[in-house]
Amino acid sequence: MKRKLVIIGGCGFIGLNVLDYLIKKFKYKFFVIDNLKGASSKKNLALLRKKFKNVSFIKKDASDYRFISNFIKKNKPNFVLGLHGQVAVTKSIKDPIYDLHSNFLSNFYTLESIRLYSPKTFFLSLSSNKVYGSKTKGLVSERFPLQFTSPYACSKGAADQYVLDYSKNYQINAVSLRLSCVYGQNQWGTEDQGWISWFINRIIYKKKIRIFGNGKQVRDILHVDDLSRLILMIMNKKKKCFGQAFNIGGGKFNQISLIGLIKKLEKILKIKSKITYHKSRYGDQEKFVNDLKKVKKYSNWEPKISIEKGLKKYLNWFMENNI
Ligand SMILES: NC(=O)c1ccc[n+]([C@@H]2O[C@H](COP(=O)([O-])OP(=O)(O)OC[C@H]3O[C@@H](n4cnc5c(N)ncnc54)[C@H](O)[C@@H]3O)[C@@H](O)[C@H]2O)c1
Repeated sequence: MKRKLVIIGGCGFIGLNVLDYLIKKFKYKFFVIDNLKGASSKKNLALLRKKFKNVSFIKKDASDYRFISNFIKKNKPNFVLGLHGQVAVTKSIKDPIYDLHSNFLSNFYTLESIRLYSPKTFFLSLSSNKVYGSKTKGLVSERFPLQFTSPYACSKGAADQYVLDYSKNYQINAVSLRLSCVYGQNQWGTEDQGWISWFINRIIYKKKIRIFGNGKQVRDILHVDDLSRLILMIMNKKKKCFGQAFNIGGGKFNQISLIGLIKKLEKILKIKSKITYHKSRYGDQEKFVNDLKKVKKYSNWEPKISIEKGLKKYLNWFMENNI
């Protein structure tokens, strides 16, 4: 029987990139499950249909327990990658019920379906650096205390903890990646999420950039191709990684402030930005830079794409696709 790989959220920015990467590596039957509620999911679905004719697309919400449990029971997939989710803290504050369904129940029901009907399935889930709260300092490792300061952090954090717990209590083959800022092709950022892509869009179209806080917030940024490569490496070394959460980002060599990024973009694009400053967002981290030691130890992965190279790659894609 043909092996099966499922991407939940395959019409999202990360999902579509990971699909594009893995489909070249495996001769599996690929499924994409997506509720198409993401800001650019419909646009991405059109791309997916054009480019990947053999992928089965199912428009469904993974927080529909009847659907996800029947799907897992019937297909018994080898891999389920949970690359879906509601992405913005701001939106989680406006609509915490959707956020809970999208980020927590979807992962919990998938885990429970795997436990009941397909216990050998490998499950990878995407968590967030927001599980560490706003008081982060230095390089943040997985030992930093968890602190949930928004509905988004609560839903992500709860799913993350269930992934680890199901792995320990029921020996489910599951891994959680706590991501910071990922950027790259097929990302259509908004003011709420995907700030690198959003800043590029604003600068190119000579529109105002609203900065919340003083703009000196520092993040370690990761190109999506590095993330796709990591996911494949974890899929190959899966036993070692089961039951683990990993902090994932660009690490200490790829850290930059919001203002630093804007200055870099102004230089590359030769366009002056228009910035206005506003009150910081509640729970925003002044500095978040991942300590990547654990992921390196378990998978041998580290980012390869520098900020300069990654931005150039993204800008080329942006110009070709003329958003
Ligand atoms: N992009 C980043 O920098 C970043 C950083 C930290 C965490 N994450 C997490 O990674 C995941 C993917 O992020 P992204 O940037 O690709 O977002 P995205 O919005 O581009 O993609 C998410 C996709 O998931 C789908 N989706 C949402 N809830 C669903 C559900 N319950 N069932 C089925 N489909 C559902 C959406 O329609 C969308 O297509 C999210 O969980 C996000 O919180 C991303």
